[in-house]
Amino acid sequence: MNACIEFAFKKAKEKGKELIGVMGGFDGLAKGDFLRLEGNVEGIERWGGTILRTSRGRYFASAEGKASLLKNLKERKIEGVIVLGGDGSMREGVPFLAALGIPTVGIPCTIDDDIPLTRSIGFDTACNKGIYLLDCIKDTALSLPERIFVLETLGGRTGHIALAVAYGGGADYVCVPELELNWEEMIGKIKGKVKERGWAIDVVAEGVGGNMVGERLEKELGIRVRITTIGHSQRGGAPSFRDRFLARALSEEAIEALLEGEYAIMVGWWNEKVERIPIEKIKGKKKEIDRALYRLVNG
Ligand code: F6P
Repeated sequence: MNACIEFAFKKAKEKGKELIGVMGGFDGLAKGDFLRLEGNVEGIERWGGTILRTSRGRYFASAEGKASLLKNLKERKIEGVIVLGGDGSMREGVPFLAALGIPTVGIPCTIDDDIPLTRSIGFDTACNKGIYLLDCIKDTALSLPERIFVLETLGGRTGHIALAVAYGGGADYVCVPELELNWEEMIGKIKGKVKERGWAIDVVAEGVGGNMVGERLEKELGIRVRITTIGHSQRGGAPSFRDRFLARALSEEAIEALLEGEYAIMVGWWNEKVERIPIEKIKGKKKEIDRALYRLVNG
């Protein structure tokens, strides 16, 4: 998100426009919490998180919040808004502002990568962190076997991160909330791997629960289970090259789109290129889990 802020600011400046920051998401817009951007954006593309902070507040949607939001936009002479956010921000936030008559462009930013028709900024960095930990666990497994290792990833109610990490990192099994867990299949495969080489690794999405899966595996197989929970560290850290590339491409496109009069769209990355996606195209849609990849991991 910081990379988006920096590159969007620079693009806007190049086009003779001022980009100002809104602190704390939609509620910041309603509360009039603005941040002047200038030299303070230089070099921030290297940092995880966002200097603008985020919130999950709903004040902006109240009658009072809405009135105040409109007043703030008018007073500041704001001509358009760029929304950096996840699934809810794209599906609800962008149409909300557009319905109030404000040209709005969304940029998909969520490690969960659960927004349809795009890759989201943050996913690659989050997966890299998962892969790094999986590699470290493998070093341990090879030198300290007779254990089953469970790695729990973030992802909320989705399993895209867990699946990508399990596939790319060569885990033995993956559990995702979108697909019903086949206990018999999982226990059989893990047991087989422990027999074959002394250890096994199971990647579990937080929406399934690493502790729950680990406890059951230990009970069923009588083998020590060691659980690593990535937790909120997965949301942070220096962004990968891929995420910075995406952030620059999408934020520059967002500025161009607003200047060209686009209204209620998301700029996304699809089929290896930048796309302008009308927001109705993602409303009510869900990004499906990749079942083929799931079968490749689990056998
Ligand atoms: O939606 C992104 C995400 O990082 C999820 O993967 C995770 O479950 C959640 O946010 C963590 O945020 P909170 O602490 O609010 O649950």
